[in-house]
Amino acid sequence: MQPGGRPRVDAAPDDLVGTAGTPSRHARRGRRPGRRHQRVRPRSDEVAQPGLHGADPTGPRGPRGAARRSRAPPTLTHVEDPSQRRVDYADTPFEEGDLAGTPLHQFRHWYSAAVGACVVEPNAMTVATADAGGPSARTVLLKAVDARGFVFYTNQRSRKARAIDADPRVSLLFGWVGMQRQVGVRGLASAVERAETDAYFRSRPYGSRIGAWVSEQSEPVASAAALHERDAQLRRRWPDRGRADDVPTPPHWGGYLVRAWEVEFWQGRASRLHDRLVFLAAAGTPAPLDDPGAWRVERRQP
Ligand SMILES: Cc1cc2nc3c(=O)[nH]c(=O)nc-3n(C[C@H](O)[C@H](O)[C@H](O)COP(=O)(O)O)c2cc1C
Repeated sequence: MQPGGRPRVDAAPDDLVGTAGTPSRHARRGRRPGRRHQRVRPRSDEVAQPGLHGADPTGPRGPRGAARRSRAPPTLTHVEDPSQRRVDYADTPFEEGDLAGTPLHQFRHWYSAAVGACVVEPNAMTVATADAGGPSARTVLLKAVDARGFVFYTNQRSRKARAIDADPRVSLLFGWVGMQRQVGVRGLASAVERAETDAYFRSRPYGSRIGAWVSEQSEPVASAAALHERDAQLRRRWPDRGRADDVPTPPHWGGYLVRAWEVEFWQGRASRLHDRLVFLAAAGTPAPLDDPGAWRVERRQP
């Protein structure tokens, strides 16, 4: 159940606004469940029962269950119109005088507040990249922040890694929406030292260490079963003996450090008159996040 007491419906974007019993564009074209354009199709016992989630075709019964469902026109109930959603932001000012002296201190302050407020995965951030193929964005987890910048780990042959190779300028976004806050970062990404990657890799749970070998991240795969088979093979190759070095660090896996030249702290305010306070170093030139002399502060219009 989402805030506001409405049932959640896992729907494709064009299914988001709809009325009960109205087939989607895809459904009208006769696309079938189990195909790429699969339509959300509630189980019969979920239809028109307030408080139940819409059926997720990859849900508890799995994709096969979804494929066996009837081909009756899909029925969605209780799908809200997002244009009608309104959240009144608490009018909590965020003034220049409230800002810490450096981006690092301010980030740590807000990050601690997000942890304290029980934000789910407060270290989740969007990483946006751009290359000749266009922009792309995805969520990753922040694993370190210090004077150098922001660190995340990933497959270094993935789409994002290839984009970073082509253009190391990236943007990060922490969306602590429940707190009516976001932090945006612009900076340059570069691979961290191998020793730092190794130290972090060894701290990961066994399954995650195996998983880093299993996935040729961003590449197509024939089936989920193929991945699970590879997972099983690799678990046989490097069994879990409860040691940090049971699984070697994949050579194609590692950390990226994002050294920032811009860090924006955004606080929601009433009537959309939000506060935006931005630490700026010289454009394109990353600066130490803990150096008060390296940054100037600019207020931007919301
Ligand atoms: C909450 C969350 C955390 C994630 N954390 C990571 C991460 O730390 N590293 C990573 O490579 N992918 C992570 N992912 C998966 C990425 O969003 C993405 O699917 C994957 O990195 C492939 O992206 P790419 O094909 O654009 O390179 C996470 C996804 C979610 C939803």
